[in-house]
Amino acid sequence: MQTETDSHRISTSDDVEVSTYLGIAKGLHGEQPVVEPEAMPRGERETIAVIDFGSQYSMLIARRLRECHVYCEIVPYDTPWDKIAPLRPRGFVLSGGPASVHESGSPLAPTYIYEKGLPVMGICYGMHAIAHQLGGRVSPGKKHEYGHAILHLSSEDCPLFAGLPVSLPVWMSHGDQVVEMPPGFKSLAYTENSPLAVIGNGEGIFGLQFHPEVAHTPHGKQIFENFAYRVCGCQGNWTPARFIDESTEKIRQQVGQGRVICALSGGVDSAVTATLIHRAIGDNLTCFFINNGLLRREEPERVLNTFQRNLKMDIAYVDASERFLKRLRGVIDPEKKRNLIGREFIKVFEEAAAKLGKVDFLAQGTVYPDVIESSSGAESKASVKIKSHHNVGGLPSKMKLSLIEPLRYLFKDEVREVGSALGLPEDMIWRQPFPGPGLSIRVIGEVTGERLEVLRAADWIVMNEIKRAKLYRHLWQSFAVLTDVKSVGVKGDYRTYGYLIAVRAINSDDAMTAEWARLPYELLDRISSRIANEVPNINRVVYDITSKPPATIEWE
Ligand code: XMP
Repeated sequence: MQTETDSHRISTSDDVEVSTYLGIAKGLHGEQPVVEPEAMPRGERETIAVIDFGSQYSMLIARRLRECHVYCEIVPYDTPWDKIAPLRPRGFVLSGGPASVHESGSPLAPTYIYEKGLPVMGICYGMHAIAHQLGGRVSPGKKHEYGHAILHLSSEDCPLFAGLPVSLPVWMSHGDQVVEMPPGFKSLAYTENSPLAVIGNGEGIFGLQFHPEVAHTPHGKQIFENFAYRVCGCQGNWTPARFIDESTEKIRQQVGQGRVICALSGGVDSAVTATLIHRAIGDNLTCFFINNGLLRREEPERVLNTFQRNLKMDIAYVDASERFLKRLRGVIDPEKKRNLIGREFIKVFEEAAAKLGKVDFLAQGTVYPDVIESSSGAESKASVKIKSHHNVGGLPSKMKLSLIEPLRYLFKDEVREVGSALGLPEDMIWRQPFPGPGLSIRVIGEVTGERLEVLRAADWIVMNEIKRAKLYRHLWQSFAVLTDVKSVGVKGDYRTYGYLIAVRAINSDDAMTAEWARLPYELLDRISSRIANEVPNINRVVYDITSKPPATIEWE
């Protein structure tokens, strides 16, 4: 299994700010922090292991199982048993994948999958692997089947379909298909193009040609629930409360009497991380909140206030805004901005940490999508740098810190649930993501105190109106950008020559892709006239109607 130290993690979590700087620091100082193995507490948890054959949907399989309150981890198909054993899996799901079992060197399931006597559900390629390895036959389908199909159950007592109608819509995406079942298997369901759409051996091994994990299979969640509860015997005990108990215990063991530092960004991930650790070790945790001068209007005061009221822990506030602004003077290139900010952040962070004496651990709010992305091998290794925040991980070597990442196995919505169970306030849990380099990448061109103030005023109006329209939580992000375009306008009887503000609002699940939000015209109208009237030097407002890809979310 790929370890953190050889991975190229791509981070998309909301407050990746700290990791971002640390990532940049890696380039500067070259070293990675020591990663403690087994960052996740084990124990009597019910786990299903998802064996990954490289499907674009593997993460969705994990999502569906977690929604059933069953813990799961995605592991590469060649993971040896000794790595899986500590999870004490109750069953396996074999993912789909782009390969064909006929190709030489195509990935196959390790033999323990069939030898442990545990339930197995193979999806698409996972089904082909089962058929191929257990003595059936897979052949290239007459045509590639992609899209909706109707699945007809041929057996009424298949536990996977308990409580479901005898015919149900499913989503297909495959070229190959099983044409001969392995000995001992029975056909359990068919579609028009796939006579063997579901097969099973009566002993807990199933193959599904369709994809129950995608939203286009409306009963998919029930199928996962049936597999987890009825076939694997899970009870669904993966809850935020349990997670909190397990991870605080684990943190206590890991840290002992050591000292932990954590940089809070104002986002939910670092806030939940810090709260969990504080619950586990109390004042052996010190948190920093660094004001880089690139925050939004009233943000430093509000964030600090919320932290101090709700986190009830030792938080060191470091106002380094002047330092950052000085560094940014005359800088136009976005990557240069990021690098300078990252470099400065490390310096400020190091100076603040040095005052504490000996520190042993650094806490980070890494979440599961970051981890999954990091192990998606070839793709992430080969990927081109779009923006430097996408390359994460690394700390000055002299700091010699071990990492604590208690949220490493949680999805974003689970982080929010845990935050809620920890009693964090709604506005902290539902804060929209905000980039580490802050407003500097939303001021196109040179960042000056004056230009930041213009952007802050416009951004304030956007946020204010979005909240008033009760859309804040529904949008992944909504904000203003100060462009370097000037255009002619008219105010009263006078000609104006002012700057252009762009408004951006997007919907997304993970920031990897995003769609521009279809905001109501009336709302856009209010935002536009307020900005043009209330913000000095702005005489034109445009709405960004580009999705990602091809655009990115931030303008720089
Ligand atoms: P892009 O612009 O790449 O942004 O589509 C994807 C998500 O990442 C945030 N973002 C950043 N976060 N440091 C961060 O911590 C950065 O340098 C950075 N750049 C973009 C962005 O707000 C969006 O949520």
